[in-house]
Amino acid sequence: MNYKILVNKNNKINDDYLSEVKLITTKNVDGIDVQLEEETYEAFLKLQKFLEEKGIIVGISSAFRTIERQKEIYQRFIEVYGKEYADAVVAPVGCSEHHTGLAVDINMQKEDGTWPVGNNELMAQEPELVKTHQFLAQFGFILRYPKDKENITGYPYEPWHLRFVGKETAKKIYAENCTLEEYLKREEEEKWNLKQLSEKDIQQEVTVIKKLKKKN
Ligand code: DAL
Ligand code: ZN
Repeated sequence: MNYKILVNKNNKINDDYLSEVKLITTKNVDGIDVQLEEETYEAFLKLQKFLEEKGIIVGISSAFRTIERQKEIYQRFIEVYGKEYADAVVAPVGCSEHHTGLAVDINMQKEDGTWPVGNNELMAQEPELVKTHQFLAQFGFILRYPKDKENITGYPYEPWHLRFVGKETAKKIYAENCTLEEYLKREEEEKWNLKQLSEKDIQQEVTVIKKLKKKN
């Protein structure tokens, strides 16, 4: 299972991706069945329990989405807010991280015990949501669409959209204050540099051997 999979406007999900994924069914805050990838679900439960002990009650609003579901969401956004806004905030069908089962939109219970309806109402709780962000990495999650990174991620700030990448990667991304796109690019560059280095080493060794042979 590749927890570092990149799905964005330039990277569509593969058709055979789901064959590798074990999805676990649970309930969202409205009591509707939702699914998350197995390890993501386990990590989410731990995060939820940890936050609960701090008096912060979070639940799932949206998790795994089929291609059909993303189509419905996109259409609904067009109907309610118009195409320009839908294109700005909803991923094109096939390009949503929610197709991976590794993404979870969280909701946060209000003081009166009810749950905000929709992202606009949830945004009123943004300062409380932000308080949870510092704890995400220790459970393997990152905030996938941070503030001021729209030019890299392709989406405006979403304080509710968490993405499971595993603890090691999440901690690095959090410490470096970067996006998944930036992290993966750097990782590729480092691999390339290492490859260049070892190729250089090989060349040097070949030269030394040739010289030695000539001497003998
Ligand atoms: N709102 C996020 C970008 C999605 O639709 O996947
Ligand atoms: Zn989301």
